[in-house]
Amino acid sequence: MLNDSIHYINGSLHCDAVPVQEILAQVGSPVYVYSLKRALHNLKRIQTAFAGYDAHIHYSAKANANLTLLRHLVQGGAGIDAVSAGEIHRALLAGTAPSNIVFAGVGKTPDELAYALEKNVGWFNVENVAECGLIDSIASQVDCLPPHIALRFNPDISASTHPYIATGHGGAKFGLTADVIADLLARQSDFPNVVFAGIHLHIGSQLHDTDATRQAVSAALDLIKPYPNIRTVNIGGGLPVAYKADDPVPDFDAFAQTLAPLLKDYTVLLEPGRSIIADAGILVANTLYVKKQAGQTFVITDASMSELIRPALYQAHHEIVPLIEPADDTRYATQVVGPVCETADVLGRNILLPDMSPGEPLAILNAGAYGMVMASNYNQRLRPPEVAVMPDGQTWQITRRRETWDDLLRMEAIL
Ligand code: LLP
Repeated sequence: MLNDSIHYINGSLHCDAVPVQEILAQVGSPVYVYSLKRALHNLKRIQTAFAGYDAHIHYSAKANANLTLLRHLVQGGAGIDAVSAGEIHRALLAGTAPSNIVFAGVGKTPDELAYALEKNVGWFNVENVAECGLIDSIASQVDCLPPHIALRFNPDISASTHPYIATGHGGAKFGLTADVIADLLARQSDFPNVVFAGIHLHIGSQLHDTDATRQAVSAALDLIKPYPNIRTVNIGGGLPVAYKADDPVPDFDAFAQTLAPLLKDYTVLLEPGRSIIADAGILVANTLYVKKQAGQTFVITDASMSELIRPALYQAHHEIVPLIEPADDTRYATQVVGPVCETADVLGRNILLPDMSPGEPLAILNAGAYGMVMASNYNQRLRPPEVAVMPDGQTWQITRRRETWDDLLRMEAIL
């Protein structure tokens, strides 16, 4: 989807004021391009929607952990939601105060927990009774502040989203059931080195149904009601973005207002990822070949499922547009595919495109979230560079260079 930052100016796709063609000419393809201006605008929208609350936005680094992006979001007032020691390390490098990091994840290792404790990470979102005991025991051995624990609640609520990104139903591996949380809260004294200070929930990603979140928050509040010292509710991420023009996206202000009566007396943490960076990023690819066969038109690009796996993994739809709009507005249903040896290597099904020719570049839209972070070297492909158009909207920088064959071989020996 096009927006104020990813838009055509005189028929040429721009990222803010920069012609994407200019970046492509200097950096080559495929390449990820991000508008920092758009990402900061998205952060601001959420901050504004929750302005009436004591709210803290922890950008979910799993959506896109580019260091430059993290640094600008942190400067814009965001904390970070990290799901591994690697993400904590990046968050710290990007200038995040340790107290503004929440450490989440269903399977944190002892080493990761020790690292996070030594760094005095602000919050630990706990998903397991044994994990709680482990944090308590490591905290007794390392020199750290008493860690704040938010127990992650699995409310057994099915979110209406793709099954792979729903997390709040009873059968999911995530969170703790109400009875386990009630038991843990009653046993704070068994965990003297940690402080039960919050409750956490995240029922899924790309959530269209705000009522499911409201129900989950309400059930979470019931659990902490007997403990007036628990004043923080982390409502997770999941704010959706429109991948198609007619995708229904709840208004963030209305969403915040729906929760206001429930949460007005609490400190609220949010962990948005997609809603901050998805529509600020594009993946630019070049057309290698056009093949017409079996009644289909295949545009074969130099980008693939190795660079953007969402269409292959979730049947996700991303709009795809030509970098240069032709004068003629005739469009044809086109299968946009990559060079990888998998039938699933599809970037777009039945995308309406002009008659494409080799050498004509395309942009895959809404690719800023869960794009580069999920890229792989499958088929010994080199992960693409990442370019940031700076918040001034005029200047751009390569924030990560294209990988080389040496990068791929560095960790391996021939024995
Ligand atoms: N908090 C927790 C505990 C999460 O598990 C997630 C996402 C988030 C926050 C951020 O959610 P967001 O605001 O981005 O929806 N790779 C998938 C999405 C996986 C989401 C995993 N958890 C995709 O490409 O759609």
